[in-house]
This record gives sequence, C-alpha cells and structure tokens, in this order.
Amino acid sequence: MNIKSTVFSLLLICSQGVAANDQLIIRADKPGAEIQPTMYGLFFEDINYAADGGLYAEMIKNRSFEFPQSLMGWESFGKVSVRDEGGPFERNPHYVRLLPSGHPHKFTGLTNEGFFGVAFTKGESYRFSVWARAVSDRPSKIRVELTDPASMGETQVMASASISIKSADWERYTVTLTPEATVSNGRLRIFLESDGVCDLEHISLFPTDTWKGHENGLRRDLAQKLADIHPGVFRFPGGCIVEGTDLDTRYQWKNSVGPVENRPLNENRWHYTFRHRHFPDYYQSYGLGFYEYFLLAEEIGAEPLPVLSVGLACQFQNKDMAAHVPVDSLQPYIDDALDLIEFANGPADSRWGKLRADMGHPEPFGLKFIAIGNEQWGPEYPEHLAPFIDAIRSRYPDINIVGSSGPSASGDKFDYLWPEMKRLNADLVDEHYYAPETFFLTQADRYDNYDRKGPKVFAGEYACHGKGKKYNHFNAALMEAAFMTGLERNADIVHMATYAPLFAHVEGWQWRPDMIWFDNLNSIPTASYYVQQLYSVNKGTRVLPLTLGGRPVTGTEGQDGLFASAVIDENDGQYIVKAVNTSDSPRELTLTFKGLKRNQYMTECRAITLSADDPDADNTLDNPSRIAPVETLIAVPDKASEVSVTLPAKTFGVYILK
Ligand code: AHR
Repeated sequence: MNIKSTVFSLLLICSQGVAANDQLIIRADKPGAEIQPTMYGLFFEDINYAADGGLYAEMIKNRSFEFPQSLMGWESFGKVSVRDEGGPFERNPHYVRLLPSGHPHKFTGLTNEGFFGVAFTKGESYRFSVWARAVSDRPSKIRVELTDPASMGETQVMASASISIKSADWERYTVTLTPEATVSNGRLRIFLESDGVCDLEHISLFPTDTWKGHENGLRRDLAQKLADIHPGVFRFPGGCIVEGTDLDTRYQWKNSVGPVENRPLNENRWHYTFRHRHFPDYYQSYGLGFYEYFLLAEEIGAEPLPVLSVGLACQFQNKDMAAHVPVDSLQPYIDDALDLIEFANGPADSRWGKLRADMGHPEPFGLKFIAIGNEQWGPEYPEHLAPFIDAIRSRYPDINIVGSSGPSASGDKFDYLWPEMKRLNADLVDEHYYAPETFFLTQADRYDNYDRKGPKVFAGEYACHGKGKKYNHFNAALMEAAFMTGLERNADIVHMATYAPLFAHVEGWQWRPDMIWFDNLNSIPTASYYVQQLYSVNKGTRVLPLTLGGRPVTGTEGQDGLFASAVIDENDGQYIVKAVNTSDSPRELTLTFKGLKRNQYMTECRAITLSADDPDADNTLDNPSRIAPVETLIAVPDKASEVSVTLPAKTFGVYILK
C-alpha cells in the first residue's frame, strides 16, 4: 500500500480524556455478523480498453488479421495480400502473404500501430512471435523492428532481429527484442528480406516481464494493482459485454479457452456504444479468456465469479423479444453454464476439466459462485433464469447462484425483481448503482431493513457519479467511503461489493469514473482505488455495533455528514473503526470501547487518513501521488479504553487499535 508514514500529531490526537464532541460507542463485547472473505472485490469488464490494450499484455492490434477490415491496425507496403485459405488456425482463417517487391530499392512489409502506439521501455525484453511458412522453393527471411516514428522526424529503429523461415509447414518462430530507448508511441515493423515468399499469421509481441511471468500474460503493473487491493472476489468478464448488443456478440466463454491462436475474435460493444467516444478498432481477441481470468483470481487470492448470458441480449438495445432466445431453446446456454462449472471444478479426465488441465491447471479452480445474466429485467428474466437454476442446482447443489435486480437500485424493475429472485431462491442478488452524491449520502442505512431471510446482496457495480462531475475526483471517492460504512455494518446480508468499472486507458475510455487509469507505460490508482483498498485490507472478521447517541452513524440528521462503522479482526485481535467526515468542518471524535475484558486496554492506535487538497481533483498520470493514504502512529496512554481523534473535514479515517 502506498502509505506515507508521517506523524501528523496536530491532525490526530489520541489520548484519554480529551474533550470530544462526538462519542462513538463501540461494543467490543458484542461481535455481530461475520464479514465474508468475499466482501470487497473487483469487477472486471473489457471496457475502456481494459483487456485488449490494457491488462492483457499483447501489444499488437489485430494480430490475426480477423478484424472486419483485415488490415485495421496495420499499414502494409510493397506486395502484401490477405488470404484466408490454408491457414493454420481454423477459427482465425486470415493471414498475410509477403511477396518480394521485385526491386532492390523497394520494400515489402507491414507496420502495426499497437493500441494507441506500441510502447516499450529501454532495456526491457519483448518476445516477438509469429506463425509462418515459406511459400516458394527459396527460404524466406523477415526483419522485425521496434521503431520510434517520431524520433528526430525520422523513423529510428530501437531494436531489431531477423528470422529465417525455412519450413514450408506452418511453424511458430520467436525472437527477443531489447530496445535501446523508451518509446511511448512506437511501432512494430516487419520487412521481407529475401527473394522467398512467406506467409505470416498471429503476429504477437509481449513484454517478457508479465505478471507471474506467464507467456500469454498480463501487464505486471496493472495486475499488481489488483493484487494490492487484496480482493475477496473477482467478477468477470462484465458487464454489458456478457449480454452482447445482439446474441451473436455476447461473450462466449468457450471461444475464450484453448490455444490462444485459435480463439475467434468477438466484437466489443464499447466500440460503438457512445458515439462521442467511438472506437471502431475495439475488439475482443479473447486472449485474456476464462482460463486466464480463473488463474488471475487464484493468483490474487480472490474467489472467481464468472457471469454468463441468460439468453437475453442487452435489453437496453433489444426491445423486441425476437432478439432473445426463447425459453424452450435455452439448452445450449444452460450447457454453457454447466460446462463452465466442469471446466473450473471438474476432474482432469472430465471433458472440460481436461481442457483446463491441458491448459496448465490440473487442479480444480474451486469455483463457488456463478452469476447468470447481467442487467436483465422484466418477467422474461425470471422465466429465463429459472431453468438455469434448476439445472445448476440439480448437478451442482453447492454452487451459489447470483441473480440480477436490473440496471438500477430502485424503481419498478428493481421492485419487481427482488421478490422474483427470492421466489427462485437465488443465493445472491446483484445490485447496480451509478448514482450522484445524494444517493451515497442518504443510503448508508439502505440495507438496515432488508429481509434477512432472503438472498444476500452483491453490490456488483457502483460508483459515485458526481452531479455534473462524471469524472474521477476525491469527493466522489469520499461519498463511496461514507456509503460503504453501511455495507460493512450490514455484512450479515451484504456479502460482496465491487466498484465499477475497474480500468480505463487515458486515450481509449468510454466510461468515467474508473478505479485505475493507465497509458501504455504507466498506471495510477485513483482516490476511489484507495477507498476500496482501505476497506479491503481492513475488513476484519466481524462487525461490532457502533453508535452515536444510541443510533448507527449514517450521516443523517444530527450527525452532520458523519459516517462510521467498526469491526474486529479476530485473527490478530485488532479493532478497526472507519469514520468518514463528509462535512466542511473537522470533527472531534472519541472512540469509546465498551465491554472490553477485565484488564484489556488499548495499547496502540494507528490512523490512516485519505484526504485531498482539492476535493475536485484526483491522481493523474502527471501527478500520480497527489492523493494517497497517510499513516499516523499515535501514542496511547496507559489503560486506555477510549481514544480521541480529530477527523479533518472531508476525510476518510481508518483507526486500527490494539
Ligand atoms: O460498468 C459499465 C457498465 O455499466 C456495465 O457494463 C453494465 O453492467 C452497466 O450498465
């Protein structure tokens, strides 16, 4: 965690008996609901170039020439043609043929522009790979270069290597390139260097230093930021891309597994969803597919939560029922769900378990949760969901099923679906709220009166979208922190919460705000990221009752924008109080622990605060550390059972007491 360790004794004063305006009573002797290990997690969707061009470390756009415009992302020169017969990969039939230019001073080859450029770092190594065959009798040779087209107005070659293509059969060739300079907007260039003709397919470039060193790997800096949250659950692959703009373009997990070269391309709906943010070159290569998602979840210690199509295409975009699968034709979709569970958990000799084992993971992934449908609504949703539930329950009774409550957290669709989810015995219900400040300031008690006998809550997509400020800024993160005290207080019913969306490329975003921003070389956590991280790493194991004047602290009347919750971590005996001051004035707080055991006293108090010099600002690539948690060590007097602190205006404070 990026914590500046400084003693700000003027900001935070911990001592016994200091006069305080607000006494927060924490009942140490009344531990309540267990906080689920899944409580704080991550929502991943390939939006804002989160996968291709983002977390997925492939640097070549349209590597298999399968985009509808076969050479999109490529510039060809000389004698290059696109062909689709006789290629090595059935589901990706296109490849390019390079013919000699016919003149010693003319060239044949092609250049790839990458995702907003091909970016590389001086001294790092990059693995270039290509499937190729020599076509004529003569051997063929290509030269591969990493270039900086902007350098001194001329193209400068920063790394190069040659590959001889001797075989007439398709083979994979690899070479490592180590650039001499760091370039943020470079290119990959390939020249034919022989009289021999060659065919090239699946042209790929990866940093060798990926997350955990996987060949078909992830960007290390981005994956590390996910790991640093210590998420309890990892939801994938979306979001709306699960549903598809039409059923043909829904996310199909079976296309995303097996050899990466043979995973067929899918459209990415976010390339055309917003005309003002139109990205016609945005596709899903499925290179980051379900195997990679499961593996990532395992490596960051999170429970995987895949979401599958319920047979309804995006309902925002398809009002006509003809666009959806009739209920009596759902079997292939239901099979997709059952087969996915087998892929994740089945023995290595089962059909789908074998594929997982062949891909490198003989041990099961231990899948416990599956969601069916994303933002669905209307009677058609329960009608479609019911046969999935029946089939999953009868084959896999231990799997927890997540249903949807529609696209927003109130209104007709929501009110209709919750009882339906109860009727169908869904284990969890997914709620989404992208809402302004007022929502977050008034809903900290949202779950206080939820029916405890029904399904649990998965706050599956949420973020404060500031009124007139739909961009990342500290105040939005503060609203989220305030609201999250209510999630924590209600941990008996709220079992999962995931902020959304997760990633955004600064040059390729469609949706703001987002949790992590990046360009091709750097990435930054936002204030919202730190809020999520502070909750997650300090989630504790049980809720403790915390009151002010006998009432929960939900920012309501008389509490003047103060929010608070408390937990105990039974693993190390620490008490953790989270307090959020959304007001413009500092608050004097006394944290009073009642019901401590005889001779039990506080001996240590650590305070971590998150605040900003400008609530309308956030971290940026130019100023990445403007906002970061600040840790303060506070001396605690002997035999303390209460601690007084000053919580500055517009500040999120986490107090960890031993
Ligand atoms: O997070 C962005 C989008 O918001 C998701 O794809 C969708 O589920 C919701 O509408």
